[in-house]
Amino acid sequence: MITHCPGGFVDVIGDCYTRLVCCIKKREHVALSDGRHEKFLGVPQSHITAKASRSRCDERRVLVRRDYRLVRIVAADFALDRVAVVPAESNLEVVVHSRFSIVVGAPTEYAGCMNSVATDVTQERLVVTEIPGPKSLALHERRKNAVSAGVGATFPVYIERAKGAIVVDVDGNHIVDMGGGIGVNTIGHADDAVIDAAFEQAQRFTHTLFTVTGYESYVRLCELLAQHTPGNFAKKSVLLNSGAEAVENAVKIARKFTGRPGVAVIDHGYHGRTNLTMSMNFKAMPYNLGFGPFAGDVHHAPNSYPFHDKLSGAEAAARTISWLDKRAGATDLACLVVEPIQGEGGFIIPADGYLPALQKWCNDNGIVYVSDEVQSGIMRTGSYYASEHFGLVPDLVTTAKGVGGGFVIAAVTGRADIMDASHVGGLGGTFGGNPMSAAAAVQIFEEIEKRDLMGEAQRVGRVLGGALRELQKKHNVIGDVRGIGAMQAIEFTEPGTDTPISDIVPFITAYAIKKGLLLLSAGTYGNVLRFLPSVITSDELLLDAVAIIDEALSAR
Ligand SMILES: Cc1ncc(COP(=O)(O)O)c(C=O)c1O
Repeated sequence: MITHCPGGFVDVIGDCYTRLVCCIKKREHVALSDGRHEKFLGVPQSHITAKASRSRCDERRVLVRRDYRLVRIVAADFALDRVAVVPAESNLEVVVHSRFSIVVGAPTEYAGCMNSVATDVTQERLVVTEIPGPKSLALHERRKNAVSAGVGATFPVYIERAKGAIVVDVDGNHIVDMGGGIGVNTIGHADDAVIDAAFEQAQRFTHTLFTVTGYESYVRLCELLAQHTPGNFAKKSVLLNSGAEAVENAVKIARKFTGRPGVAVIDHGYHGRTNLTMSMNFKAMPYNLGFGPFAGDVHHAPNSYPFHDKLSGAEAAARTISWLDKRAGATDLACLVVEPIQGEGGFIIPADGYLPALQKWCNDNGIVYVSDEVQSGIMRTGSYYASEHFGLVPDLVTTAKGVGGGFVIAAVTGRADIMDASHVGGLGGTFGGNPMSAAAAVQIFEEIEKRDLMGEAQRVGRVLGGALRELQKKHNVIGDVRGIGAMQAIEFTEPGTDTPISDIVPFITAYAIKKGLLLLSAGTYGNVLRFLPSVITSDELLLDAVAIIDEALSAR
């Protein structure tokens, strides 16, 4: 049915599947274009041709279905004769408002992509007010009255939209995001395909509670996690809501499997803010101080920190193992939980051979080896999991942050016999594996393969790591540059020593935000600048970020 009516937009009604402006028939793709500008709506990113660009027509949102035959609906530019094209066999009902006319056309292979409010964020740094600007400052005042003072605010800057590598604040400043929400937006902010997947899921249902009635995306995500975590053996997963919850569950599962109470961790580690994970953290302030009493049976041992301890992997492992043997007793330990690259600790990359030696000791002593990959997992380091760089095959792996691209989801994945140790009903929770988040995560795995995002993470490592090493030649306070893929860091120390300088990082982050660059600190002594950019951040933006740090160091 085609009608002409007054108004300013095209309305396409199929099975009335979406309640936004445009509706399309279930199981079909739709592309909408405003013609002259070649801006297309409603088709997955994989189909974008070189010619196609994203629509800025916020109001013409279209639900996209992937993996089915494409159809095309074209609405010409408002300034021209407006035309909508619909394939004859599509059975779509098209309602066209205003002076649009309708042409029935053939299905087409060309397409654009899902439209969203955020699509017109230009990928450049743009400072239009002081940062923080007046609107951010006003919001910050409101926050002070309404939000607990215990919730930190690294920058009093409030975000209105974000896309790719850029966050746009409420004052219109385009800020280059080198923190990615602490390693969450690995695929980039508001990725079209990911939003599309979650949005499509939200149209169908938002919650059932998987432990009551299931759905496919939960199962699919567990299959993908089994496929992409290290190790060629039967694996299973449980889906959860946060990194801390994943770590808690890994410990729970290991305890049930081994029948032992003890938990071993290494110095400078970070695992979360729940009671058990606080007990596993190294740093008291700000994570733990005053929140005790903490969980018992958690044993902290020295780590490998080559820049400081100068130990080989074998030496550092012997120290850790001897300490745990003496202090905890191997036969009392259920698990050893280790980040392959310590995140909050300052992107500490252990010496060669350290982690495999720990794993061997765990295997020899019936201790479950848990790789906490909440920060380092899901292509962050240019491989699915950082464990791979060290030849590790953990018994259990925790995943969170980047796997949802901003949608809340986490997982424990590992050996099927260990994962099955719990009695029925022992694992789960109301929101674990939420349908929108699971759909988004499944899509992220697809995008990693389709768009070679792993290669992009490696590119980020080459470009950013290379530029930071050049910067080190210029500024002798940069004691160490380290990182793998899109997980890079610089550590500031008194020249020629390994004594931390703690006031440089706050100076640089404060300097940078005023220039429209968001940088994060890390490290037990607060002397590490860490970089967790999206893997799609362009070389130009990466080099621009390093130039600002150079400027800040010279201005100091
Ligand atoms: C290695 C590691 N484990 C656990 C966590 C806790 O994750 P969440 O903040 O999602 O609870 C983090 C968070 O930064 C982390 O980096």
